[in-house]
Amino acid sequence: METVVSGIRPTGNLHLGNYFGAVKNFLKMQHDANCYFFVADYHSLTTHPHPDNLNASVKQVLAENLACGLNPEICTLYVQSDLPEVAELYLLLNMLAYTGELERSVTFKEKIRKDPNNVNAGLLTYPVLMAADILIHKAAKVPVGKDQEQHLEFTRNFAVRFNHLYGVEFFPQPVAYNFGVQLVKVPGLDGSGKMGKSEAEGNAVFLIDEHDTIKKKVMRAVTDSGPTEPNQPKPEAITNIFTLMKLVSSNDTVQHFEDAYNNCTIRYGDMKKQLAEDMNIFIAPIREKIKEISSDEKYISKVVREGAEKAHESARKTVQEVRNIIGMRSF
Ligand code: ADP
Ligand code: TRP
Repeated sequence: METVVSGIRPTGNLHLGNYFGAVKNFLKMQHDANCYFFVADYHSLTTHPHPDNLNASVKQVLAENLACGLNPEICTLYVQSDLPEVAELYLLLNMLAYTGELERSVTFKEKIRKDPNNVNAGLLTYPVLMAADILIHKAAKVPVGKDQEQHLEFTRNFAVRFNHLYGVEFFPQPVAYNFGVQLVKVPGLDGSGKMGKSEAEGNAVFLIDEHDTIKKKVMRAVTDSGPTEPNQPKPEAITNIFTLMKLVSSNDTVQHFEDAYNNCTIRYGDMKKQLAEDMNIFIAPIREKIKEISSDEKYISKVVREGAEKAHESARKTVQEVRNIIGMRSF
């Protein structure tokens, strides 16, 4: 079975965009591959989170992913900093990473632009740490979106450089992958673009949102005054509402509103009311599960302890072999 690694950033709550864009892919993948999923808490230190916040965010992101259906019996779910071997491999890979290439990273340049007062070395070497996350398990595939493609290219470069320098065929060259689940871009509620946590307030529907919050957000979604002619093409904001409805409502419901749109009898108020109800039906069991899991400290700590143990096995083996290849042999 192929080995897959993916990091989950402990920033903010999961929204429907994350669910349909990433988590759903993980849920399928855990059955199809040897999966390592981890919460990337080392990575999040580049922005210096408050210790209490860091701890709470790591716990929350674990609870939310578990509630969605990540199954720690099937995949390996751990916290990055529970695996000190990652820090060691990161150090070793840093010797193979050129500052020039790291400075040319698109994400690095973007971060400098956004926060010129916090250009720390951790930020510069972020791709090296990410390469360590992936190579520590010798993963072949990494389920990430377009924005992470350059980071994967760095990973392949470091892997090839290592193999070449030491004359070995040790590290694989991991590629970005999506596991057959159609990746959808989930639109936001503000009429354009995508659902995202850093967009305008109310643009994203979170998996922890209560029924009344969902209703409020959906009822405020941007629409227009409605079609004036039969079978008119839909403007973007309306397409977005239909796209969201297709994710959570039955085919019959979607068809009902498609027909109403095409014969100009559609009432967006009714459509949004239905959408809010169906979103709530979709989210409610996940929301309740998140509450249940996040209040169960014992369960979460058992999951990460066992996850770390499983991850250690493969990490220890890799680092030992790497040390041996480099020439750090015990006397
Ligand atoms: P956000 O945009 O809210 O900051 P992240 O960048 O943390 O979300 O996304 C984490 C994962 O969820 C990524 O794999 C990303 O591709 C996916 N994702 C986020 N928003 C959407 C969306 N609106 N549609 C599809 N996938 C999404
Ligand atoms: N950089 C990834 C992101 O921003 C998170 C991440 C860290 C990751 N390490 C990883 C993803 C290793 C895949 C594999 O989303």
